[in-house]
Amino acid sequence: MKTLTIGNQQVTRVGLGCMGMSDFYGPADDQQSIDVIRHALDVGVNMLDTADMYGPWRNEQLLGKAIKGKRDQAFVATKFGVMRDESGAFLGINGSPEYVRKACDDSLKRLGVEHIDLYYQHRVDPNTPIEDTVGAMKDLVKAGKVKYIGLSEAHPDTIRRAQSVHPISALQTEYSLWTRDPEQAHIPLCKELGIAFVAYSPLGRGFLSGGIQSTENLDPNDYRRSAPRFSGDNFAQNKQLVDAMAERASAYGCTTAQLALAWLFAQAGHVMAIPGTTKRHRIDENLAALSVNLSHSDVVALNELAPLGAAAGTRYDERGMTTVNR
Ligand code: ATR
Repeated sequence: MKTLTIGNQQVTRVGLGCMGMSDFYGPADDQQSIDVIRHALDVGVNMLDTADMYGPWRNEQLLGKAIKGKRDQAFVATKFGVMRDESGAFLGINGSPEYVRKACDDSLKRLGVEHIDLYYQHRVDPNTPIEDTVGAMKDLVKAGKVKYIGLSEAHPDTIRRAQSVHPISALQTEYSLWTRDPEQAHIPLCKELGIAFVAYSPLGRGFLSGGIQSTENLDPNDYRRSAPRFSGDNFAQNKQLVDAMAERASAYGCTTAQLALAWLFAQAGHVMAIPGTTKRHRIDENLAALSVNLSHSDVVALNELAPLGAAAGTRYDERGMTTVNR
């Protein structure tokens, strides 16, 4: 099954994460990124994922430019709730109804679209009841500004409360061979409630492709230089995991990145992934992961290779960890 259904739309289970085209992973070339996005649409990768805070704001503008003339092919997903200033500094999380309304109007303008296909709350605001935030999102659906609504990094109890206000169409959460926590409660809950599970950082921010040999080769402004799993002894320990994955991948005749994605698709039919890339050929490579068929015993072997907690280091720094699973 290469697609899943969100509302009345078919979405390819490999989407495209656009964040790295404008932020966090060092500089990227806008024209090249536009070409990558357009190529993705041409080959059938239709979910394009962004957020107002990426750039900040520039990533939505870039996506808006890229989909001009191709709007009908794209399933546009964006997010609100993490506030930043012009310099990129984080200002906090806001899920108040007034903020939701303004953020949506601003995103529509930057994207140059009449509606957003999937609008997520990026991080749950502990100071606003989820019912109030989702109530405001529901009004956006009624107004025709948003088709479907989603949550990101929400706790299972929060998801249930949200769902009682309006159907939640997608949950976006980090999930990969080095972040298996969502298997405990989130993935089964999404299945029960008919929610698509959208795995972000399915390649462990590039690490699980085997392509990152050292953080020294990363751009000086690349945030991964200071990310716990890429730092000090953790890097060396995690490298052993990805080296073992690379061995399996060559036995299966696929790339390590494809193995990481194929493992994820083998988990359940309602799981999809949005790997990020700034390279055209990697769109094709990642899409082809849908054709890598892992047997049940292959999946079991990978599960044993990378059990829950196998990765050294937390997935975010201390501040970042306080914003997830709320
Ligand atoms: P995120 O959700 O943060 O974008 P991810 O999808 O786990 O994280 O990984 C994104 C990283 O993987 C990017 O740095 C991307 O690098 P490029 O922009 O240079 O492509 C890298 N990446 C994506 N697909 C890849 C592939 N097939 N092989 C190797 N690296 C890949």
